[in-house]
Amino acid sequence: MTTDFEAFFGDSRPRVLAPSILAGDHANLAGSLAEVECDGRRWVHLDVMDGHFVPNVTFGPQTVADLRRRTNVFLDVHLMMECPHQFLDAFAEAGSDLISIHVEPDYDHADALSRIRGLAKRSGIVINPETQVEKIFPFLEQVDLVLCMTVRPGFGGQAFMENVLDKVRTLNELREKEGYRYLIEVDGGVTPENLTLCTNAGADVLVAGTAYFKADASTRKAFAELAGEPT
Ligand code: DX5
Ligand code: ZN
Repeated sequence: MTTDFEAFFGDSRPRVLAPSILAGDHANLAGSLAEVECDGRRWVHLDVMDGHFVPNVTFGPQTVADLRRRTNVFLDVHLMMECPHQFLDAFAEAGSDLISIHVEPDYDHADALSRIRGLAKRSGIVINPETQVEKIFPFLEQVDLVLCMTVRPGFGGQAFMENVLDKVRTLNELREKEGYRYLIEVDGGVTPENLTLCTNAGADVLVAGTAYFKADASTRKAFAELAGEPT
């Protein structure tokens, strides 16, 4: 399968259901990826956790590189790291398509975002539920995607925080008004039941871990259709 990645970022802003393989089998992530790909999904979310910024540890650039060798899907790499700026080259080299970094830790965000684009990757800024949306305003011009966390980052399987949708609405209005080009992604606790709330608020990319992996084939199909993706 080949995918026209540019279409994700085109004027039509297609909606995407993005399975998070955090909820897959970590002893067989290639198998989890193949499952997602067989199901027709074209965008996969990869959660990198460093044990400092979040109280959990997952995987690093080697795993991303090994997955890259097995797939052509769009690899959306969400760096939950205290020092993401020290790993941008490694994750770019590994074959990430999009690299997203959190606004909360203290480093030069503008420089890191411009380095991501300099590495010919799509750039994303991530904001936690408790962080004021204004904190990302200085970076909106230099990102391809804004990721609004709808749970506290660190673990899959948590409850969706609906109040974060206010942030999604603000960012949706802002991009209309100012002509920004970013996509809006939501991540955490997304289910077939709350997905429409997210899309109505303006979300384009819907990350789903637990709800996706625990679903049977027909629920997955319904999930993707709700997201507005072809199945
Ligand atoms: C949480 C991660 C999410 C996680 C979502 O820290 O960033 O991507 O995989 O999983 P669910 O859908 O189970 O909340
Ligand atoms: Zn994530």
